[in-house]
Amino acid sequence: MKVAIMGFGVVGSGVAELFAKNHNKIVSSSTQPELELKYILDIKDFPGSPFADMMIKDFNIILNDPEVGIVVETMGGLKPAYDYVSACLKAKKSVVTSNKELVAEKGYELLSLAKENGVNFLFEASVGGGIPIIRPISQCLAANEIDEIAGILNGTTNFILTKMFKEGMSFGDALKLAQENGYAESNPAADIEGTDACRKICILASLAFGKHVYPEEVYTEGITKITTEDVDYAKNWGGVVKLIARAGRLENGKIFALVSPAFVKSSSQLASVDDVFNAILVRGDATGDVVFYGRGAGKMPTASAVVADVIDCAKHAVSKKVFGWEDGIPNYVVDYTSLPVSLYVRVSAVGNTSEIKKELESKIPGINYLVRSASPANEFAFVTPEMPENEIREKLTEINGISIINTIRITDY
Ligand code: HSE
Repeated sequence: MKVAIMGFGVVGSGVAELFAKNHNKIVSSSTQPELELKYILDIKDFPGSPFADMMIKDFNIILNDPEVGIVVETMGGLKPAYDYVSACLKAKKSVVTSNKELVAEKGYELLSLAKENGVNFLFEASVGGGIPIIRPISQCLAANEIDEIAGILNGTTNFILTKMFKEGMSFGDALKLAQENGYAESNPAADIEGTDACRKICILASLAFGKHVYPEEVYTEGITKITTEDVDYAKNWGGVVKLIARAGRLENGKIFALVSPAFVKSSSQLASVDDVFNAILVRGDATGDVVFYGRGAGKMPTASAVVADVIDCAKHAVSKKVFGWEDGIPNYVVDYTSLPVSLYVRVSAVGNTSEIKKELESKIPGINYLVRSASPANEFAFVTPEMPENEIREKLTEINGISIINTIRITDY
């Protein structure tokens, strides 16, 4: 059985290199003695590459070659990845992808297409880079009802936040370093605005809760508004700020899902996840919390997950993997603002601060103030008790003389 790679970027070139480096191990694990890389499709030229003799520019060569049974898609984006992957599945070739956007937007459709055509569509690398998470949820934890998933799912933002916290690096310098290391998306807005983490929680929620969750249904907030002042208040509170993607099952059969920066207590397992590392906490009704940790981005960790899927496709060339979810339904993802939350709020006050605080305490009993050194006299910050988020926000609008600078949700993982 022959393999083709579509897209020779960071991940695709890692897949080719890993395939060459560990070829004997990969072939023996695959139970297909003739498993071999045959083509690499890319629009660019790579003169001098050790894979130059496999390079092609015409997708139809892959599509029309009956020897190619497994196609790896590492192009990213929807165009032309979606058309190419659909065509491969219809041509009864299994597909392995690392493309989060493709799975988050078209996962249900492509899984159905794979099923109809008796082939596999696998995407372990689409979430958590080198961390096994798709297979553990679909196989190892299959006996559980999953109650909740929460994770640090974007290596770039975690790298940036860590550099800002621990090394005082500016946001821009840390982002540049992440790009140089090959962690960031080609358009890093997808990282820093939370879109990448949103796509990943959509995939995990679809898998864990059984219906497709589309990115537009998930409230998503990135890290661009986080400042060193918020960091100082988080330290005073006893924790750190992390970009947390989470989703959970509700008693009414619906789910919640959102991505936002969050205060995380220092004692949490997620608080010590630094740099490009990702961690995913899965709360099963039988297992309790299980945490998966490792390199969530980068060439070789992601290639490792892709090649493992290639091996799985080869092993399941005849008996296909039964794997997938139903399509999404309207209003399946509830309005996150109706759910109880505790909020960190930083405000600037206009007028008599002690009067303003008195009004605040009467409208929201039970708030706790935070402090930081060198804060201006008219600035203060506090943490609210747990209440539905829309109620907290409504009450905050009723307080005279405050202007909200930032709010950050508090998690209890
Ligand atoms: N840009 C992504 C990240 C790459 O930083 O996590 C891995 O999906």
